[in-house]
Amino acid sequence: MASKTETNSTDPVHPAAAPIPRDTVTPRDWTPTSWTRKIATQQPVYPDASAVERAVTELSSLPPLVNSWEIESLRAALAEAATGKSFLLQGGDCAESFEDCDAAIITSKLKILLQMSLVLVHGTRKKVVRVGRIAGQYAKPRSADMETRGDETLPSYRGDIVNRNAFTPEDRKPDPQLLLRGYERAALTLNFIRALVEGGFADLHHPENWDVSFLEHAKLAREYHEIVDSILDSIQFMEAVLETRVHNLQRAKFYTSHEGLALLYEQAQTRQVPRREGWFNLSTHLPWIGMRTAQVDGAHVEYFRGIRNPVAVKIGPAMTEEWLTELLDVLHPHDEPGRLTLIHRFGADGIAEHLPRMIETVRATGKTVLWCADPMHGNTVSTESGRKTRRFDSILSELEQAFEIHRSLGSRLGGVHFELTGENVTECVGGARGLDEGGLDRAYNTRVDPRLNYEQALEMAMRIARHLRHNPS
Ligand code: PEP
Ligand code: CO
Repeated sequence: MASKTETNSTDPVHPAAAPIPRDTVTPRDWTPTSWTRKIATQQPVYPDASAVERAVTELSSLPPLVNSWEIESLRAALAEAATGKSFLLQGGDCAESFEDCDAAIITSKLKILLQMSLVLVHGTRKKVVRVGRIAGQYAKPRSADMETRGDETLPSYRGDIVNRNAFTPEDRKPDPQLLLRGYERAALTLNFIRALVEGGFADLHHPENWDVSFLEHAKLAREYHEIVDSILDSIQFMEAVLETRVHNLQRAKFYTSHEGLALLYEQAQTRQVPRREGWFNLSTHLPWIGMRTAQVDGAHVEYFRGIRNPVAVKIGPAMTEEWLTELLDVLHPHDEPGRLTLIHRFGADGIAEHLPRMIETVRATGKTVLWCADPMHGNTVSTESGRKTRRFDSILSELEQAFEIHRSLGSRLGGVHFELTGENVTECVGGARGLDEGGLDRAYNTRVDPRLNYEQALEMAMRIARHLRHNPS
């Protein structure tokens, strides 16, 4: 049996979340494969069923990527974010590619997330819970199953864990071996992140690691350095007064998340662990359900209802009050602190219309959720030349409205969710350097959605911090 004191013994920062009754830990009729009895949308059609079975069996026997202590620790941290004691920063690629499993790319992604979190700590005066869309964000929902170019029609690209991006019949054929390749890439990515974090990459005593030398916009760089200097001053002051070194600063906690879309992958990493009740998805700390697969009677919700991880659901303009209430019934039946995060993505033009009814719907259930704003997915537009982009100002506007709407309704925005990269890409327009549509072609590298680049992401964090300093939540 799980001993309640043991569960978080490695984690002095976050207290154990309140336990739920033992007999309700795993819902009735649920197993890691019970989703197969439901309609599973957005799944590839594999040509060879026995090859799928072999791949899933092998994946099921390989070691997990994360552990249940970390998952419980994140659940407790998210519970704190829901009550305003901390703030969630979630970010990373729309679609990770296997090629991005590269030291420089991983380092710069970790670095931008750590730097943004530092800016947010300063602005919010709260702990920041850092969650990357990383080490598993390999599957994408698509609006059409097939793609036609000229007179050739092939299966759509569904992410590197399913098939390959090149437009040839061989590349687009769903390949179950890619489930294993995805697991391996996730493991390599996570291993490197853990080494960086354990090795002190995020140690505030070493500000050189926090340097922004390639931040070329002088005003942003100055503002950022002022923040770092003021934090270092506080640390030095505290250490002088306490006559001790503040060791907790050496290791930043860093969690992973991805859309739990490819259900065979999620199922194969779903495990029971010694001395704990229930089943854990050990491929990531925080899996989420995308808007397109959130049907209450669908396979994704079925799978998610049975796992012990904290989970998130994306909600967009099509979400109805009834649908949301049912999702809370199924996914959040015991109102466990930290269990459910709702990531809303309505667009700068839609949030004022839709968010209030969602807040009222949750309030009517009497349950607590963590509200997180994704200001990216409701603000995608096409340029005249057909490029998908997002405007910095629309993203910021949706965020500022989100803070205000929550505040005005007595609710609280406890987190933000971005698509970003640590690279100097040109995919979103605007920001301090005024990237315009003409500049998009220079480094438009995304496989799916446009991401904030390094400078835009850091600037976004500064703008949020500034907003929150003037309007504390
Ligand atoms: C995503 O996060 O990349 C995504 C597809 O989100 P949504 O389900 O909100 O469109
Ligand atoms: Co996306």
